[in-house]
Amino acid sequence: MANPTKIPFLDLVTPHQELQEELLAVVKKAFSNAGFIGGPMVEEFEREFAAFCGTKYCVGVNSGTDALRFAFMAAGVQPGDIIVTVPHTFIATTEAISQAGANIAFVDIHEQTYTMDPEKLREYLETRCEISAKSGELIERDSKRRVAGIVPVHLYGQTADMDPILELAARYNLFVIEDACQAHGAKYFSQRDNAWKLAGSMGIAAAFSFYPGKNLGACGEAGAATTNDPAMAARMKMIRDHGQAKMYYHDIEGYNGRLDSIQAGWLSVKLRHLTKWNESRRAHAHRYHELLTESKGAIAIPVEASWTKGVYHLYVVRVQDREAFQAALAEAGIGTGIHYPIPLHLQKTYQNLGYKPGDFPVTECVAREIVSLPMFPQLSRPQQDEVVAAVKDFVGSKIAAAH
Ligand SMILES: Cc1ncc(COP(=O)(O)O)c(C=O)c1O
Repeated sequence: MANPTKIPFLDLVTPHQELQEELLAVVKKAFSNAGFIGGPMVEEFEREFAAFCGTKYCVGVNSGTDALRFAFMAAGVQPGDIIVTVPHTFIATTEAISQAGANIAFVDIHEQTYTMDPEKLREYLETRCEISAKSGELIERDSKRRVAGIVPVHLYGQTADMDPILELAARYNLFVIEDACQAHGAKYFSQRDNAWKLAGSMGIAAAFSFYPGKNLGACGEAGAATTNDPAMAARMKMIRDHGQAKMYYHDIEGYNGRLDSIQAGWLSVKLRHLTKWNESRRAHAHRYHELLTESKGAIAIPVEASWTKGVYHLYVVRVQDREAFQAALAEAGIGTGIHYPIPLHLQKTYQNLGYKPGDFPVTECVAREIVSLPMFPQLSRPQQDEVVAAVKDFVGSKIAAAH
C-alpha cells in the first residue's frame, strides 16, 4: 500500500488559511447588504480582472465552461457551425462548443508546447475546407458546414502560438476565442506587434475558470470572459442573465450564469496575490527544470517556448513507464495527476465525430506519457527536493534494471 501523501499534488488548504481573515470579511460584507448575486463586489472584481488581463471588459459568470459557451453564442455561432480546437484539453472546451449548438473539429497539438500546432491548423483550413463561391464563407468540404471559429487552449499555463493562429483566422474570417482557463497572467510575445500580450487579451474574447485549483481560484464555482469588444461584452452580460439587459425585458433566451458576489469578493482578495503566486510557480518550475536536467534521457521536462512566459498551472513531465512512475512517487508519499489521459477524439461521447486512433498522433503519444508533478505557490524547497529525489530514484532504478 502507498504511503499517506506527504506532499500533495496541490495544496489548497495553506493559501486559504493564510488569507482566512480577509476572506471571511468578504462574507460579512455580503451579509450586511444581502446582495448575493451581481452587485458592486462583482462589478469591482470585473474591473480589476479586466485590468489584470489588459482588456477593456470582463464579464463574471459562474464557470469557465459558461464563459466559453457564452462567448461562442455572443460571437454569433449558428447551429451546425464548426469550431476548431485541440483534442488535448479538458472536455469543458468541447462541451461548450456543443452546448452552443456548434460542431467540433480537432487539429493536433505541437509536440513540445502541447498547445495547438498552427501548421496543423493551416493544413486543416487549407486542405479540408474551401471558400464558398456563393457566400464567401469557409466551408468544411466533407460536412458542408461553415467554419466559424478557432479555440486555442493555453494549456498548463503556457500560451498557444497566437500570431500564426490569428493570422489564419484573419485570412479566413474566423473568430478566435481563447480558452485561458489555465492561464491567468500568462504572457505571449507577439512578433507581429513586437509586444508581450496577456492571455485573454488576444482573441475577440477569452474564457477563464476560477475553479478552486486554478492559479486564481474561487471558493466554489466561478468564471469570467474577457473582451475588448463592447458589443461582445454586452451580449455576454445578457446571455448570463436570462437574456435581459433590463430587468424582465428578455430580448433573447439566456441562461442563469451569473457570478455570486461572495465569490467575486473572494476573487478580488486573491487577485492581489496572483502575480506573486505566479512568480512562485515560475520559480518552482525553473528549479524543477534545473534539478531534473540530468534525468532528461528518462524524463521529458516542459519546454517553455521563447514566445511564452508561462504561469505553470501544472508542471507536466513525460515518462515512458507512467504507471510505475506514479506508483513509485505514491510510495514515497508524493501526489501526482494526469491531465489528461484520454484524448478527446477517443472519448466515448465523441464516437459520433468519426475520429479513430492515429488521427492525432502527437496528442495520443503525449496522453500516454504525461504526469503532473506537485505544483502550487506554497511548495517548499524541502518538499520540492523530496519530489526530485523520488523522481531520480525511479530513474536510477530503471537504469539499473536495464543493465
Ligand atoms: C482548459 C479548460 N477549459 C475549460 C475549463 C472549464 O472551467 P470550469 O471548470 O470553471 O467550468 C477548464 C477547467 O477545468 C479547463 O482546464
